[in-house]
Amino acid sequence: VPYLKNCSVVYTCESSGAQDAVHPVANGTVVWSGSTIDWVGPFNKLPAQFSADQAIDCRGGMAIPGLIDCHTHLAFGGWRENECTARIKGQSYADIANAGGGILSTVRDTRSQSQEQLVTRCFQHLNQISKLGVTTIEVKSGYGLDRATELRLLETYRDLAKTSPLTIVPTFLGAHVVPTEFTDKRSDYISLLCEELIPEIAERKLANFCDVFVEQGAFTVAEARQILITAQRYGLAPKLHIDQFHDLGAAFLAAELGAISADHLECSSDSGLKALAEAGVVAVILPFASMYTRQPFAQAQKMLSSGLQVAVATDFNPGSAPSYHLPFAMALACQMNGLTPAEALKGATINAAKAIGLTATHGSLEVGKCADIAIMNSSGIDMWLYHLEANSCFCTIKNGKELETK
Ligand code: NIG
Ligand code: FE
Repeated sequence: VPYLKNCSVVYTCESSGAQDAVHPVANGTVVWSGSTIDWVGPFNKLPAQFSADQAIDCRGGMAIPGLIDCHTHLAFGGWRENECTARIKGQSYADIANAGGGILSTVRDTRSQSQEQLVTRCFQHLNQISKLGVTTIEVKSGYGLDRATELRLLETYRDLAKTSPLTIVPTFLGAHVVPTEFTDKRSDYISLLCEELIPEIAERKLANFCDVFVEQGAFTVAEARQILITAQRYGLAPKLHIDQFHDLGAAFLAAELGAISADHLECSSDSGLKALAEAGVVAVILPFASMYTRQPFAQAQKMLSSGLQVAVATDFNPGSAPSYHLPFAMALACQMNGLTPAEALKGATINAAKAIGLTATHGSLEVGKCADIAIMNSSGIDMWLYHLEANSCFCTIKNGKELETK
């Protein structure tokens, strides 16, 4: 059976303990058969019963659970690099959106893409993403905003889940913004979501979660409540984009609904964070979005002292977060949001699994879980996110199979 050798440290990242309890095992090994982990512990304590004979050489590097990117908008048409440059010159994200750019410009570019084009592009991205050590990814719709294109995006994800080795977890984000056709009849768009799309998506099992962007220029708290209560009735668990630019009080809605995660949280109030913590909602921070929109970063230490579990994700999308480099987002979470590297590691493994409902099978190196492992050319977690090589990962193992070696 396969096992790791020459590993300086295995971080198991099991959930017990505080956010920085990553459970290092010095000179550790992981043994698995098929796609399931059989044993984790110090190499010199490996019980004789394991005929571990297929060594994967870690070359003195470290092993971590395969990384989990628990918030992305993977499928879209076009890019918006012009907007990024305009923001550097002083325009705001809202100015650009109000002038017809922003999310609606990507909606135009996405509607013109065929499913085949979307699949091809996502597949290329996933190939690069897996080389970084990422083995599971959450993917949102939300750049279609009409029946045909929202379904095409979710069907794209369904096809990718069949062809890509990665675990792909789809979320319906029909409530990203109100599309232009419905500007003067918002309630008709909400009816389309609640009466047609949510029932159809649930029936066809095209998404696990339903997300709403609560923000000025997007959806109100009352609209989000209506959409997410409907989604819950159909078995889609709620997620929310909240407090990115303005605190509209949506944290209390996330708590009231028992959302699985609340994401962004750049300008959350202390009482909002407390409410999320008491309801057990995972706080997902998205440092790229703060960096690219040139906004203050979410205060991760305040989240931890409020009792929240924090996850770190890329938010990969063409507007506010055009990079899928999760280790770079983790380094930013350290330098700009104030997490330690150990806290960021749990944020992109077990807590990210919690944010997408996968803790039973993913997010930590424990007996019985999936053998999803990333091997990094680094002596330890502090060194890894400090030096931040172009790509420290030289071996990604997914469901027990080695994907990429460079
Ligand atoms: O998560 N906040 C809303 N949605 C995305 C941005 C989408 C875009 O600008 O295209 C986000 O940051
Ligand atoms: Fe997002």
